[in-house]
Amino acid sequence: MKLDSQKLRDRDNASVWHPFTAMSEYRHEQAPIIVEANGFHLTDADGKRYLDGHSSLWCNIHGHRVPAIDAAIRNQLDRVAHSTLLGLSNEPSIELADELVRRTPADLTKVFYSDCGAAGVEVALKIAYQYYQQRSNQPQQRDKFIYFDGAYHGDTIGTMSIGSISRFKNLYSPLLFPAVWTSVPSASPDDPDREQQQLDHWSQELDRLLTLHQGTIAGVVIEPLVQAAAGIKVQAAGFLGRVRAITKKHDTLLIADEIAVGFGRTGTLFACEQESVSPDILILSKGLTGGYLPLAATLVTDPIYEAFLGDPWLGRTFYHGHTYTGNPLACAAALASLRLIDEHHVLSNVRRLECALKRELEPLKAHPQVETIRQQGTMVGIELSDGGKPFSPERRIGHHVTLACRQRGVVVRNIAEVLVLMPAPAMPESLVIELCQVVRDSIADVLPPSAC
Ligand SMILES: Cc1ncc(COP(=O)(O)O)c(C=O)c1O
Repeated sequence: MKLDSQKLRDRDNASVWHPFTAMSEYRHEQAPIIVEANGFHLTDADGKRYLDGHSSLWCNIHGHRVPAIDAAIRNQLDRVAHSTLLGLSNEPSIELADELVRRTPADLTKVFYSDCGAAGVEVALKIAYQYYQQRSNQPQQRDKFIYFDGAYHGDTIGTMSIGSISRFKNLYSPLLFPAVWTSVPSASPDDPDREQQQLDHWSQELDRLLTLHQGTIAGVVIEPLVQAAAGIKVQAAGFLGRVRAITKKHDTLLIADEIAVGFGRTGTLFACEQESVSPDILILSKGLTGGYLPLAATLVTDPIYEAFLGDPWLGRTFYHGHTYTGNPLACAAALASLRLIDEHHVLSNVRRLECALKRELEPLKAHPQVETIRQQGTMVGIELSDGGKPFSPERRIGHHVTLACRQRGVVVRNIAEVLVLMPAPAMPESLVIELCQVVRDSIADVLPPSAC
């Protein structure tokens, strides 16, 4: 059936409000309307194909229309699409919890489901807050969290309170709860001495803050190894391990948000593995279902879970839940995705892609307006600048580069002047080479080196 793309676009403009999208501009951009997908390509209503260069917003793992995941969802659909976890259970959610406990760091033993990354983080904050009040040894009222410069954990009121990207947060400041801010040492591959100095400095600062606020901090919330929404900011190696040691020393929970970095993107199944860290609370979402369906999981340790046990009338229950918590279709997709990660050796592929991205983007380093390229695994941020200074925001340089990529048949997104590439962990190397070629050409289109 031939689709009338202009009619769809008119209806889109008439009734859909797009997230994180400047609508007055979007309405004139003739954005692709995706009608189908296959493998690592999306097809729009005009029949044009696009390489999915950002894993459909950082969640796709194996590509689209993957037969094994499609079949798992269809099989589950033939049994039951949804039944609540409030007081009942369902088979895929049990199996998935088992798998997650088996694959995540050793101390994590219990899984609480929700529906999106932000909800999974909210769950973590509420659990941490309640845990300290209910633990048998030394119950305490702890109502503060520590978060890091560049942090992004979602757009709900709680997650914005521990987020630090001002353009997402400042407008809502009066609605947010106070939290304690600190910074994070960046990786400086060209200056190891500086990296070490920063690592020592910010570790000592975290230690100082936990001493200063002794007994009031319920958790330190971190995106392990990479802050994605900050523009793929890679942390100094060793910082995560230091944060674990410092939080243990101060008897404070370490809350690891692996929503963006989980499921292979950094080179290991979970980023925490790279520094042998077992957090007290771990949050997963995005890639959990292979990028098919909304689902989040908040994993906790035995001591945390046990603080919520007791006779029902004691009020120790965790009073939190969502209608679609532990949805069987989403859990079935997640189980199929985990199996494919093993069967298709996806982690080895990530290591191949990591090298290919490095090699293929290397020529960009000579471009006068490419400030820096940050990379960890298949996560890449290409920061553009006007000779070391930020471009004026009205020029919307990053956005124009993404439009140039789109013209050439590649979908990627920018965060201000950082172009973010995040090919799916299972993407073939040949497509990653094509992605890099298009990105190089598109940057040259918008910022011709000869004109600099
Ligand atoms: C690290 C991190 N945490 C939380 C979130 C929020 O997830 P969601 O958009 O599913 O609410 C994101 C989304 O990009 C993220 O990158």
